[in-house]
Amino acid sequence: MSNNEHDVTRRQFLNYTLTGVGGFMAAGMLMPMLRFAVDPLLQNKTSGKMVAVTNVSQLTNEPQRFTFKVKKVDGWHTFEEQKIAYIYKKENGEILALSPICTHLGCTVSWNDPAFPNEFHCPCHGGRYTKSGINIPGTPPPEPLHVYDQKVKGGTVYLGEDHPRGGS
Ligand code: FES
Repeated sequence: MSNNEHDVTRRQFLNYTLTGVGGFMAAGMLMPMLRFAVDPLLQNKTSGKMVAVTNVSQLTNEPQRFTFKVKKVDGWHTFEEQKIAYIYKKENGEILALSPICTHLGCTVSWNDPAFPNEFHCPCHGGRYTKSGINIPGTPPPEPLHVYDQKVKGGTVYLGEDHPRGGS
């Protein structure tokens, strides 16, 4: 083996080593940036569409339990999630759609338990809410039941996202 062959080999070795180390360092810097850039895609979110749930003609002044499905997007994966709403017509004809998720620790409330007539009751820690979903003072829930965005079109009730409302 000549000296020239050794020189070329050493040069190549250095090139490979430096390229490898440089690439490794660049990847270390780029990965967090890439993760930050695609993070919104990895968030679990709904498609934002309103879903037909029931007909207005089925609603009464008594909250009724309805189930419906919403499309969710988790990164590149789309799936359906089942939701529940208690819907009723107020005295003024306005429609109120309540989420049954207790605002204390997330259990599911039920309407009109024999032990708690005309109230929403949470079985987990005794949370109670009025018919319009307002938390009853002295019980664990810190805020009212969330309400769904809703609209009526062609006699059909559509629901969207649920969100908190002010007051207690
Ligand atoms: S989760 Fe409903 S009262 Fe605690």
